[in-house]
Amino acid sequence: MTHTRRAFIQSGLAMSALSVFPKAGSAATPEFQVMTAQSGAVQLAPPDYPKTEIWGYDGKFPGPVIRVRQGARLQRRLVNKLPQATSLHWHGVRISNAMDGVAGLTQDAIPTGETFDYDFAVPDAGTFWFHAHNRSVEQVARGLYGALIVEEPIAPDVDRDEVLILDDWLLNPETAQLDPDFEAVHDRSHAGRRGNFVATNGSFNSTLNVSQGERMRLRLINAANARIFVLGLSGLKGWVMAFDGMPLVTPSEISEPIILGPGQRADLFVDVIADEGESAHLVRLEDGQGFAQTEFRVTGTLASAVRDVPQVLPPNPNMDVPGLEQARRIRLNMEGGAMGNLDAAILEGERKTFRQLVDANQFWAFNGTVGMTEKPLASLSRGETARVEIYNDTSFPHAMHLHGMHFREVLEGGEVGPLRDTLLMFGGETREIAFVADNPGKWLFHCHMLSHAASGMMTWLEVA
Ligand code: C2O
Ligand code: CU
Repeated sequence: MTHTRRAFIQSGLAMSALSVFPKAGSAATPEFQVMTAQSGAVQLAPPDYPKTEIWGYDGKFPGPVIRVRQGARLQRRLVNKLPQATSLHWHGVRISNAMDGVAGLTQDAIPTGETFDYDFAVPDAGTFWFHAHNRSVEQVARGLYGALIVEEPIAPDVDRDEVLILDDWLLNPETAQLDPDFEAVHDRSHAGRRGNFVATNGSFNSTLNVSQGERMRLRLINAANARIFVLGLSGLKGWVMAFDGMPLVTPSEISEPIILGPGQRADLFVDVIADEGESAHLVRLEDGQGFAQTEFRVTGTLASAVRDVPQVLPPNPNMDVPGLEQARRIRLNMEGGAMGNLDAAILEGERKTFRQLVDANQFWAFNGTVGMTEKPLASLSRGETARVEIYNDTSFPHAMHLHGMHFREVLEGGEVGPLRDTLLMFGGETREIAFVADNPGKWLFHCHMLSHAASGMMTWLEVA
């Protein structure tokens, strides 16, 4: 997953040569690069364990890292060789609606043996990812995801650029195979499917060799079904440069843990300050302990070591959320789950008691309704600003993800937070987000804890 600046320059040259000398006939039929969703086997667990059967793009894990320039057109033909239907969602991309990849809302699921052509422009530079969006609770857990990196027009001043995809796999400790019960009642009704095997880029002992004084861009992606990663640095001095693909106005020096809910990303710039012969770490904090999420072995020293605070990343287009005062107000109550207050809710148009919901393996409701509805949560006019006040009336955290548009959190005193696509909320919290409904279409709005999404926490918004 290493991507040196030289490699980037080389791939840039290769691409422009291709566009200067197009293949004969390519103008009529755009040549989509093919990506095949299929099963494969990878050595996730230590070498004395068998390989783990996964599903992956091109049968691999980690999946491909797609790198494109900001503003470029991305074309992929997805071939489905899985035993079930699938679709592909480009998480965080302010994409055209028909390409959003939500089976049942923006496209039909792609049956086994069939293909779908994804073809869209990428307006924003930053760290994004793509993942299956049909039976996500199973397909993402099986490995169907990868990183989508959109390069800034001018490469920022870093010595290297690393994609670190964080995930936890739920493996049988004897056989190293995935626990096949993706519908487990406990996962759905509690904190979601949490793994017992935490990895970075599919490796439980993720290690990189670095030099003291090196400045790295670390692109962290939480691809887990439900785990919240709490991360710290050791032997590294760092700044958060962007969240969910969107640059911050000022780089904030990292002095406290970085919390990433499922679906969220953070771009860090970190300088290696550990001495040669030592190791620096990205540390996962859990139950008062620290675990090495990725180890950086310091095997050398860079001559030009002293560096300034990094320059901010260039802003993406349309990052403002104006008109908060006159904004359209929407309320979203999240209810249900174990130890919750949900007595009854509407499921498929019928009122059900919580007992009946449990029998249907459904546990969560938005505004008293379980799962998707015929009508959207709200129909917005194009360009309108909307504010959604969300009350987490449950005992669990949830990671609310809005498709198609980024939002800002509305804070005390009319301040707004950074532009994001996923909001992590803890039990009992009320938070408010605001966004400009500038992207027409049908946009899913759901909990990215995938067992929760599969058991009720899903709704949608329409922008006319
Ligand atoms: Cu990352 Cu609806 O998904
Ligand atoms: Cu949730």
